Order: sequence, then C-alpha cells, then structure tokens
Amino acid sequence: MKMTRPKVYGVLGSNISYSLSPQIFRILFDKFRLPHGYFFFDIRPDKLTKFVESARLLDVAGFSVTIPFKCAIIQHLDRVHSSARYCRAVNLVSVQRNKLVGYNTDIVGVEQVLRQAKVPSLKKKRILIIGAGGTARVILGHAVSCEPGGISIVNRGRKRLKEMLSVFGIENGSNGIQAHQLPVLKSRLKGSTWEIVFNATPIATEKILPAATIRSATVVFEAAYGLKNRKLPPGTRVVGGIDLLIFQALRGFEILTGIKIENYRRERSAIKRKLVV
Ligand SMILES: NC(=O)c1ccc[n+]([C@@H]2O[C@H](COP(=O)([O-])OP(=O)(O)OC[C@H]3O[C@@H](n4cnc5c(N)ncnc54)[C@H](OP(=O)(O)O)[C@@H]3O)[C@@H](O)[C@H]2O)c1
Repeated sequence: MKMTRPKVYGVLGSNISYSLSPQIFRILFDKFRLPHGYFFFDIRPDKLTKFVESARLLDVAGFSVTIPFKCAIIQHLDRVHSSARYCRAVNLVSVQRNKLVGYNTDIVGVEQVLRQAKVPSLKKKRILIIGAGGTARVILGHAVSCEPGGISIVNRGRKRLKEMLSVFGIENGSNGIQAHQLPVLKSRLKGSTWEIVFNATPIATEKILPAATIRSATVVFEAAYGLKNRKLPPGTRVVGGIDLLIFQALRGFEILTGIKIENYRRERSAIKRKLVV
C-alpha cells in the first residue's frame, strides 16, 4: 500500500483562537485516513512577511487565510488562481512545486449556503452589503452577477470601500450601486429597507442595523460565526456562519488534497455532528 507523506497545513489569521478550521480539517483528515496536521498560524498583522518566509522554509503545504490577511497576502504569492483574481481576495494558499498559489473558496461557500438554505434568487432584489473586506468582495462579485434590483454597500472605513469598488471597476452611484460609510445608516439611509442583507464584518448585525430594518429583510446572511449574546428581532432568518465555514473548507480540502467531496450537504451534516463548538 502506498504511504501518504504527512504534510503541515494551518489557518493564517490574527486573534483567531476561536477558529473552527483546525477541527474541520482534522475531521476530514481522519475520515480520509490522511496523516496530515492542521495548526493555528495566529500572527500579528505586521508579521505577514516573516510568516510567508517561514512557511516556505518549513515546507508548509498550504493554509487557509482569514481576517485580516485575505487581501494583504496577495503580494506574497507566486500565482493567483482565477477564483481569487477577479475579486483580489485569497482565503486559501496551496503550495504547488514550491510556489504559493492563492485561491478563493468563499464563493463556493456563499453559493452553497444560498442554495442549501433555499434563499430566493437575488435577481431584482434590493441588497445591502455590510463590509468591504475580503469576504464582502466575494459577496459583491456574486451579487452583481445575479442582476439585483439595487445594491447598497456600507463600511466603517472609506479606504477599503474605495478599493472594493475599484477592484470591480464600479463607480459609486452607477448601475444601482451606492456605497456609504456606516454613519449614513443613521442619517440618509435611516428607515431604508432591503430584502437581503449580507453582513461581512465580525460585528453582529443587530449592532449595526436597527431592528425594523432587520425585520423587513427576508434573510440575513452573516459571514461571522460564534457571535455571543445575540439580540436579533424574533423571527429573523439568519444563514451563513458555520455553514459558510464548512462549505468553503470542503472546497479548500478538495484543492489541497485532490480528493473530491461527492456530496457537500451530507459532508456538512457529518462535520456539524462532530464539531465541538
Ligand atoms: N464563516 C466563514 O467561513 C467566514 C468566511 C469569511 C469570513 N468570515 C468572517 O467574516 C468577517 C470578515 O472577514 P474578512 O476576511 O472579510 O475580513 P477583512 O477582509 O479584514 O474585512 C473586515 C471587514 O469588517 C469591517 N470591520 C472590522 N471590524 C469592524 C468593527 N469593529 N465595526 C465595523 N466594521 C468592522 C472592516 O471595516 P474597515 O474597512 O473599516 O476596517 C471590513 O469591512 C470575519 O469575522 C470573518 O471571520 C467567516
């Protein structure tokens, strides 16, 4: 029987001790009888260059990328796959023949969450996107491709907002897309409603949007998971979170190992049963 050489994988981020990615990958390695390890690469934002040098030196075989490195990692890569090139955000690095290749598997995660949760098509819907980081870019790319009825984007800072629009060649105010900074929610956009809300920040939706706005949305898609002390209006339908984490990890597992996951829905349920949250 051919022996598989043990490889080192991990998740790169800052203050990510909450991350469930190591558990998910270890569950998958066990299931497929792979001898690999998956670790926390929890580093300070100013240590990214040193981390990449160390990963190359130590022959790390690949790593997931999370907050705040999804955009910053790109300048350190040898190649960017088309899944990440269009939105310039990378959430997975695979080392192939000593070259660091960046992928984005969040888009597979977002599409799977929307499909499995039977969220109605975004076509002609009014959409709100909160955030302008790596995940928001993926969501914006997906939303634009669905021909929505209008997209509002709100972000805390101006810098990433501008960068995100320029990545997609969008001019603020054109093609039904309006981008603002967060305080506008309490002034010009006060009382506005959206059918589908995407929150791509680490902050709970109810801390950003008034209850009436949340209540009027058919569905709230939250990227973050493990948020505590929730105070969402009763009846709010929230999707994303851990399901997004598992779906994007399944696609990452396929890229890193070359093993095809036959049924994402079934695998998600199996992983959820084993996860210790
Ligand atoms: N479940 C999953 O699989 C999954 C997948 C992807 C992402 N996520 C989660 O989604 C979140 C965003 O991740 P990311 O990779 O897109 O991060 P990122 O690229 O660093 O972007 C972070 C975004 O959140 C905003 N933000 C951060 N702190 C904030 C605060 N205190 N108040 C308001 N806005 C704030 C940032 O605004 P500024 O531009 O003003 O800094 C930016 O828009 C993280 O919580 C991450 O764990 C989860």
